[in-house]
Amino acid sequence: MQSTAETDITDGLQSDTAERVAFLNRNSKIFHAVLAQQFDTNVISELCELSEMIRAISATRQGTQFLTTLLNYRRAMLYFTQPSTRTFLSFTAACQVLGLRYNTVRDPKTSSEVKGESEEDTVRVLSQYFDIIIMRHPKAGFAEHVARILEHMPRTIPVINGGSGKDQHPTQALLDVYTLFRCFTTPTSVRGSRRYHCNPFVGKTIAFVGDLKRGRTVRSLTYLLARYPGVKLVYISPPELAPEEDIVEYMRRSDVEFEMADDLQKWVGECDAIYMTRLQDEHDVAGESKKIDYSRYSLTLDMAPQFKPNLVIMHPLPRRGELDEKLDSLPQAKYWAQVRNGMWMRAALIALIFEVDGAILEHYQNYYTL
Ligand code: NCD
Repeated sequence: MQSTAETDITDGLQSDTAERVAFLNRNSKIFHAVLAQQFDTNVISELCELSEMIRAISATRQGTQFLTTLLNYRRAMLYFTQPSTRTFLSFTAACQVLGLRYNTVRDPKTSSEVKGESEEDTVRVLSQYFDIIIMRHPKAGFAEHVARILEHMPRTIPVINGGSGKDQHPTQALLDVYTLFRCFTTPTSVRGSRRYHCNPFVGKTIAFVGDLKRGRTVRSLTYLLARYPGVKLVYISPPELAPEEDIVEYMRRSDVEFEMADDLQKWVGECDAIYMTRLQDEHDVAGESKKIDYSRYSLTLDMAPQFKPNLVIMHPLPRRGELDEKLDSLPQAKYWAQVRNGMWMRAALIALIFEVDGAILEHYQNYYTL
Protein backbone atom coordinates (compact mmCIF):
# COMPACT_ATOMS: atom_id res chain seq x y z
CA MET A 1 0.00 0.00 0.00
CA GLN A 2 2.96 2.31 0.39
CA SER A 3 3.67 4.61 -2.49
CA THR A 4 7.00 6.27 -1.78
CA ALA A 5 8.24 7.60 -5.08
CA GLU A 6 12.03 7.53 -4.88
CA THR A 7 12.28 10.65 -7.03
CA ASP A 8 9.94 12.50 -4.69
CA ILE A 9 11.92 11.60 -1.61
CA THR A 10 15.32 12.46 -2.99
CA ASP A 11 14.13 15.69 -4.58
CA GLY A 12 16.07 18.60 -3.16
CA LEU A 13 18.01 16.48 -0.69
CA GLN A 14 21.75 16.37 -0.50
CA SER A 15 23.02 13.30 -2.26
CA ASP A 16 24.28 11.71 0.94
CA THR A 17 20.78 12.04 2.39
CA ALA A 18 19.40 10.45 -0.76
CA GLU A 19 21.81 7.54 -0.32
CA ARG A 20 20.81 7.18 3.34
CA VAL A 21 17.10 7.24 2.51
CA ALA A 22 17.61 4.67 -0.25
CA PHE A 23 19.43 2.42 2.22
CA LEU A 24 16.75 2.73 4.92
CA ASN A 25 13.89 2.01 2.52
CA ARG A 26 13.41 -1.31 0.70
CA ASN A 27 11.80 -1.37 -2.73
CA SER A 28 10.76 2.26 -2.16
CA LYS A 29 8.94 1.30 1.05
CA ILE A 30 9.78 2.19 4.63
CA PHE A 31 11.85 -0.67 6.10
CA HIS A 32 13.88 1.02 8.83
CA ALA A 33 12.19 4.18 10.14
CA VAL A 34 15.15 6.30 11.16
CA LEU A 35 15.10 9.68 9.38
CA ALA A 36 12.19 12.06 8.86
CA GLN A 37 13.47 12.56 5.28
CA GLN A 38 12.22 9.04 4.48
CA PHE A 39 8.60 10.19 4.69
CA ASP A 40 7.10 11.96 1.70
CA THR A 41 3.59 13.38 1.63
CA ASN A 42 2.15 10.16 0.19
CA VAL A 43 3.52 8.06 3.02
CA ILE A 44 2.52 10.66 5.61
CA SER A 45 -1.05 10.64 4.25
CA GLU A 46 -1.14 6.85 4.26
CA LEU A 47 0.09 6.72 7.84
CA CYS A 48 -2.45 9.33 9.00
CA GLU A 49 -5.23 7.41 7.30
CA LEU A 50 -4.03 4.14 8.77
CA SER A 51 -3.85 5.74 12.25
CA GLU A 52 -7.42 6.90 11.82
CA MET A 53 -8.58 3.43 10.77
CA ILE A 54 -6.82 1.75 13.71
CA ARG A 55 -8.36 4.32 16.05
CA ALA A 56 -11.85 3.66 14.67
CA ILE A 57 -11.47 -0.13 14.69
CA SER A 58 -10.22 0.01 18.30
CA ALA A 59 -13.47 1.62 19.39
CA THR A 60 -15.23 -1.75 19.59
CA ARG A 61 -14.37 -4.95 21.40
CA GLN A 62 -14.54 -6.99 18.19
CA GLY A 63 -12.35 -4.47 16.41
CA THR A 64 -9.80 -4.47 19.21
CA GLN A 65 -9.70 -8.26 19.12
CA PHE A 66 -9.26 -8.27 15.34
CA LEU A 67 -6.27 -5.91 15.58
CA THR A 68 -4.55 -8.11 18.17
CA THR A 69 -4.53 -11.02 15.71
CA LEU A 70 -2.48 -9.11 13.16
CA LEU A 71 1.02 -9.40 14.61
CA ASN A 72 0.70 -11.94 17.41
CA TYR A 73 3.32 -14.10 15.72
CA ARG A 74 5.98 -11.36 15.92
CA ARG A 75 8.23 -10.09 18.71
CA ALA A 76 9.54 -6.56 19.30
CA MET A 77 12.49 -5.33 21.35
CA LEU A 78 12.18 -1.90 22.91
CA TYR A 79 15.81 -0.90 23.48
CA PHE A 80 15.57 2.46 25.24
CA THR A 81 18.82 3.49 26.89
CA GLN A 82 17.83 7.15 27.19
CA PRO A 83 15.00 8.35 29.48
CA SER A 84 11.54 8.26 27.97
CA THR A 85 7.94 8.22 29.14
CA ARG A 86 5.62 8.90 26.20
CA THR A 87 7.64 7.44 23.35
CA PHE A 88 8.37 4.26 25.28
CA LEU A 89 4.85 3.78 26.63
CA SER A 90 3.12 4.67 23.39
CA PHE A 91 5.26 2.12 21.57
CA THR A 92 4.38 -0.54 24.15
CA ALA A 93 0.71 0.39 23.80
CA ALA A 94 1.02 0.35 19.99
CA CYS A 95 2.54 -3.14 20.14
CA GLN A 96 -0.36 -4.24 22.36
CA VAL A 97 -2.90 -2.77 19.94
CA LEU A 98 -1.47 -5.00 17.19
CA GLY A 99 -0.94 -8.07 19.39
CA LEU A 100 2.83 -7.75 18.95
CA ARG A 101 4.64 -9.22 21.95
CA TYR A 102 7.55 -7.15 23.22
CA ASN A 103 10.45 -7.19 25.58
CA THR A 104 12.41 -4.24 26.91
CA VAL A 105 15.96 -3.19 27.76
CA ARG A 106 16.07 0.21 29.41
CA ASP A 107 19.07 0.07 31.67
CA PRO A 108 22.30 -1.14 30.06
CA LYS A 109 23.68 -1.67 33.58
CA THR A 110 21.56 -4.82 33.77
CA SER A 111 22.98 -6.19 30.50
CA SER A 112 26.33 -7.66 29.52
CA GLU A 113 27.46 -4.17 28.59
CA VAL A 114 28.77 -4.00 32.18
CA LYS A 115 31.00 -6.97 31.32
CA GLY A 116 32.45 -4.93 28.47
CA GLU A 117 30.14 -6.01 25.68
CA SER A 118 29.81 -3.27 23.07
CA GLU A 119 26.46 -1.67 22.28
CA GLU A 120 26.93 -2.94 18.74
CA ASP A 121 27.19 -6.54 19.96
CA THR A 122 24.13 -6.00 22.15
CA VAL A 123 22.00 -5.05 19.14
CA ARG A 124 23.48 -7.91 17.10
CA VAL A 125 22.22 -10.24 19.82
CA LEU A 126 18.82 -8.55 19.93
CA SER A 127 18.42 -9.06 16.20
CA GLN A 128 18.61 -12.83 16.69
CA TYR A 129 15.70 -12.97 19.12
CA PHE A 130 13.30 -10.29 17.88
CA ASP A 131 11.63 -9.22 14.65
CA ILE A 132 12.01 -5.46 15.09
CA ILE A 133 14.12 -3.15 17.27
CA ILE A 134 12.45 0.04 18.48
CA MET A 135 15.13 2.16 20.08
CA ARG A 136 16.10 5.41 21.73
CA HIS A 137 19.73 6.30 22.29
CA PRO A 138 21.65 9.35 23.55
CA LYS A 139 24.03 9.36 20.56
CA ALA A 140 23.01 11.17 17.40
CA GLY A 141 22.94 8.82 14.43
CA PHE A 142 23.05 5.65 16.52
CA ALA A 143 19.77 4.23 15.19
CA GLU A 144 21.09 4.53 11.64
CA HIS A 145 24.39 2.97 12.71
CA VAL A 146 22.40 0.02 14.13
CA ALA A 147 20.44 -0.35 10.87
CA ARG A 148 23.75 -0.54 8.99
CA ILE A 149 25.25 -3.05 11.44
CA LEU A 150 22.25 -5.34 11.01
CA GLU A 151 22.85 -5.42 7.25
CA HIS A 152 25.79 -7.71 7.92
CA MET A 153 23.90 -10.09 10.17
CA PRO A 154 22.30 -13.37 9.10
CA ARG A 155 18.94 -11.82 10.00
CA THR A 156 18.23 -8.22 9.04
CA ILE A 157 15.35 -6.78 11.01
CA PRO A 158 13.80 -3.29 10.89
CA VAL A 159 14.88 -0.54 13.27
CA ILE A 160 12.59 2.27 14.41
CA ASN A 161 14.23 5.38 15.78
CA GLY A 162 12.44 6.59 18.92
CA GLY A 163 14.88 9.50 19.33
CA SER A 164 18.60 9.66 18.60
CA GLY A 165 20.59 12.21 20.58
CA LYS A 166 20.10 15.78 19.40
CA ASP A 167 19.45 14.88 15.81
CA GLN A 168 16.12 13.19 15.00
CA HIS A 169 12.84 11.95 16.40
CA PRO A 170 10.87 10.95 13.31
CA THR A 171 7.94 9.19 15.01
CA GLN A 172 7.28 12.29 17.12
CA ALA A 173 7.22 14.34 13.91
CA LEU A 174 4.75 11.91 12.34
CA LEU A 175 2.38 12.15 15.29
CA ASP A 176 2.77 15.93 15.25
CA VAL A 177 1.76 16.11 11.59
CA TYR A 178 -1.14 13.73 12.27
CA THR A 179 -2.27 16.06 15.08
CA LEU A 180 -2.03 19.09 12.78
CA PHE A 181 -4.00 17.27 10.05
CA ARG A 182 -6.72 16.43 12.58
CA CYS A 183 -6.86 20.02 13.82
CA PHE A 184 -6.73 21.73 10.42
CA THR A 185 -9.34 19.46 8.80
CA THR A 186 -12.58 17.88 9.93
CA PRO A 187 -14.11 14.71 8.46
CA THR A 188 -16.55 16.93 6.58
CA SER A 189 -14.20 19.75 5.55
CA VAL A 190 -12.75 17.62 2.77
CA ARG A 191 -14.67 15.12 0.75
CA GLY A 192 -14.86 11.55 2.06
CA SER A 193 -11.59 9.72 2.45
CA ARG A 194 -9.52 12.62 1.12
CA ARG A 195 -9.14 14.07 4.62
CA TYR A 196 -5.51 12.99 4.83
CA HIS A 197 -4.71 13.38 1.15
CA CYS A 198 -4.97 17.15 0.93
CA ASN A 199 -2.54 19.90 1.91
CA PRO A 200 -4.18 21.50 4.96
CA PHE A 201 -1.13 23.70 5.56
CA VAL A 202 -1.71 26.22 2.78
CA GLY A 203 -1.77 29.71 4.32
CA LYS A 204 -0.95 28.41 7.80
CA THR A 205 1.73 29.91 10.02
CA ILE A 206 3.38 27.42 12.36
CA ALA A 207 5.85 28.63 14.98
CA PHE A 208 8.46 26.56 16.79
CA VAL A 209 9.43 28.09 20.12
CA GLY A 210 12.27 27.49 22.54
CA ASP A 211 15.47 25.50 22.33
CA LEU A 212 15.54 24.94 18.59
CA LYS A 213 19.25 24.24 18.50
CA ARG A 214 19.12 20.98 20.43
CA GLY A 215 15.49 19.92 20.09
CA ARG A 216 15.37 16.87 17.83
CA THR A 217 11.58 17.01 17.46
CA VAL A 218 11.83 20.37 15.70
CA ARG A 219 14.43 19.13 13.23
CA SER A 220 12.33 16.08 12.29
CA LEU A 221 9.11 18.08 12.07
CA THR A 222 10.83 20.67 9.88
CA TYR A 223 11.70 17.94 7.39
CA LEU A 224 8.06 16.83 7.23
CA LEU A 225 6.40 20.25 7.10
CA ALA A 226 8.79 21.58 4.47
CA ARG A 227 7.12 19.13 2.07
CA TYR A 228 3.88 21.14 2.17
CA PRO A 229 3.99 24.19 -0.12
CA GLY A 230 2.07 27.17 1.22
CA VAL A 231 2.98 26.70 4.89
CA LYS A 232 5.05 29.33 6.70
CA LEU A 233 7.43 28.22 9.45
CA VAL A 234 8.67 30.63 12.10
CA TYR A 235 11.55 29.68 14.40
CA ILE A 236 11.37 31.68 17.64
CA SER A 237 14.28 31.20 20.02
CA PRO A 238 16.93 33.02 22.00
CA PRO A 239 19.75 33.74 19.50
CA GLU A 240 22.02 31.25 21.33
CA LEU A 241 19.46 28.48 20.76
CA ALA A 242 18.56 29.21 17.14
CA PRO A 243 18.27 26.18 14.81
CA GLU A 244 21.48 24.59 13.57
CA GLU A 245 22.81 25.50 10.15
CA ASP A 246 21.59 22.24 8.56
CA ILE A 247 17.98 23.23 9.26
CA VAL A 248 18.45 26.78 8.02
CA GLU A 249 20.14 25.48 4.88
CA TYR A 250 17.40 22.91 4.33
CA MET A 251 14.71 25.58 4.65
CA ARG A 252 16.60 27.86 2.24
CA ARG A 253 16.57 25.10 -0.35
CA SER A 254 12.90 24.23 0.26
CA ASP A 255 9.92 25.91 -1.41
CA VAL A 256 8.55 26.90 1.96
CA GLU A 257 8.60 30.40 3.46
CA PHE A 258 10.37 30.64 6.80
CA GLU A 259 11.59 33.23 9.26
CA MET A 260 14.00 33.31 12.20
CA ALA A 261 12.72 35.36 15.14
CA ASP A 262 13.35 35.92 18.82
CA ASP A 263 10.17 37.62 20.01
CA LEU A 264 7.29 35.31 20.89
CA GLN A 265 5.02 38.20 21.95
CA LYS A 266 5.20 39.63 18.45
CA TRP A 267 4.13 36.39 16.75
CA VAL A 268 1.59 34.97 19.15
CA GLY A 269 -1.45 36.48 17.40
CA GLU A 270 -0.23 35.54 13.91
CA CYS A 271 0.11 31.80 14.39
CA ASP A 272 -2.20 28.94 13.48
CA ALA A 273 -0.05 26.52 15.46
CA ILE A 274 2.54 27.11 18.16
CA TYR A 275 4.92 24.25 18.93
CA MET A 276 6.51 24.85 22.33
CA THR A 277 9.69 23.10 23.45
CA ARG A 278 11.61 22.91 26.71
CA LEU A 279 15.20 23.92 27.33
CA GLN A 280 17.31 20.87 26.44
CA ASP A 281 19.83 21.54 29.21
CA GLU A 282 20.93 17.92 29.49
CA HIS A 283 23.12 18.79 26.48
CA ASP A 284 24.81 21.72 28.27
CA VAL A 285 28.56 21.44 28.34
CA ALA A 286 29.20 23.97 31.13
CA GLY A 287 25.75 25.03 32.28
CA GLU A 288 25.80 27.71 29.57
CA SER A 289 22.02 27.80 29.09
CA LYS A 290 21.51 28.85 32.72
CA LYS A 291 22.33 32.40 31.61
CA ILE A 292 19.49 32.47 29.05
CA ASP A 293 16.23 34.23 29.95
CA TYR A 294 13.89 31.41 28.88
CA SER A 295 10.82 33.13 30.37
CA ARG A 296 10.57 35.12 27.12
CA TYR A 297 9.93 31.81 25.36
CA SER A 298 7.03 30.76 27.55
CA LEU A 299 3.37 30.64 26.63
CA THR A 300 1.17 32.03 29.38
CA LEU A 301 -2.50 32.61 30.04
CA ASP A 302 -2.16 36.39 29.73
CA MET A 303 -1.34 35.87 26.03
CA ALA A 304 -4.63 34.02 25.43
CA PRO A 305 -6.61 37.09 24.28
CA GLN A 306 -4.19 37.33 21.34
CA PHE A 307 -4.63 33.70 20.28
CA LYS A 308 -6.50 32.94 17.08
CA PRO A 309 -9.69 31.02 18.00
CA ASN A 310 -8.49 27.93 16.15
CA LEU A 311 -4.89 28.14 17.29
CA VAL A 312 -3.29 24.73 17.87
CA ILE A 313 -0.96 24.69 20.88
CA MET A 314 1.44 21.77 20.81
CA HIS A 315 4.32 20.47 22.90
CA PRO A 316 6.15 17.14 22.56
CA LEU A 317 6.41 17.11 26.39
CA PRO A 318 7.82 16.92 28.98
CA ARG A 319 7.13 20.55 29.76
CA ARG A 320 8.54 22.80 32.37
CA GLY A 321 7.56 26.40 32.96
CA GLU A 322 7.47 27.27 29.23
CA LEU A 323 3.90 26.02 28.84
CA ASP A 324 1.63 27.29 31.58
CA GLU A 325 -0.68 24.62 33.06
CA LYS A 326 -3.39 27.27 33.16
CA LEU A 327 -3.61 26.91 29.37
CA ASP A 328 -4.60 23.24 29.63
CA SER A 329 -8.32 23.89 29.78
CA LEU A 330 -8.37 26.12 26.68
CA PRO A 331 -9.82 24.59 23.50
CA GLN A 332 -6.56 25.51 21.76
CA ALA A 333 -4.51 23.15 23.97
CA LYS A 334 -3.84 20.04 21.86
CA TYR A 335 -0.86 18.50 23.60
CA TRP A 336 -2.83 15.78 25.39
CA ALA A 337 -4.47 14.85 22.10
CA GLN A 338 -0.94 14.74 20.65
CA VAL A 339 0.02 12.16 23.30
CA ARG A 340 -2.88 9.88 22.34
CA ASN A 341 -2.33 10.40 18.62
CA GLY A 342 1.19 9.07 19.15
CA MET A 343 -0.12 5.66 20.10
CA TRP A 344 -2.21 5.35 16.92
CA MET A 345 0.52 6.71 14.68
CA ARG A 346 3.12 4.34 16.12
CA ALA A 347 0.75 1.42 15.66
CA ALA A 348 0.22 2.57 12.06
CA LEU A 349 3.96 2.73 11.41
CA ILE A 350 4.54 -0.76 12.80
CA ALA A 351 1.59 -2.05 10.73
CA LEU A 352 3.06 -0.47 7.61
CA ILE A 353 6.53 -1.92 8.22
CA PHE A 354 5.10 -5.42 8.77
CA GLU A 355 2.74 -4.98 5.81
CA VAL A 356 -0.52 -5.63 7.66
CA ASP A 357 -1.90 -2.27 6.49
CA GLY A 358 -3.83 -4.02 3.71
CA ALA A 359 -5.63 -6.24 6.25
CA ILE A 360 -6.54 -3.19 8.32
CA LEU A 361 -7.92 -1.40 5.27
CA GLU A 362 -9.95 -4.44 4.26
CA HIS A 363 -11.40 -4.81 7.75
CA TYR A 364 -12.16 -1.12 7.87
CA GLN A 365 -13.92 -1.13 4.52
CA ASN A 366 -16.02 -4.09 5.60
CA TYR A 367 -17.19 -2.50 8.85
CA TYR A 368 -16.83 1.27 8.58
CA THR A 369 -16.85 4.09 6.09
CA LEU A 370 -14.08 6.66 6.04
C1 NCD B 1 10.90 14.80 23.31
C2 NCD B 1 12.21 14.08 23.12
O1 NCD B 1 12.48 13.07 23.76
O2 NCD B 1 12.96 14.56 22.28
N1 NCD B 1 9.98 14.10 24.10
C3 NCD B 1 9.22 13.10 23.56
O3 NCD B 1 9.69 12.18 22.94
N2 NCD B 1 7.90 13.23 23.69
C4 NCD B 1 11.08 16.21 23.74
C5 NCD B 1 11.91 16.52 24.94
O4 NCD B 1 12.46 15.67 25.62
O5 NCD B 1 12.00 17.72 25.23
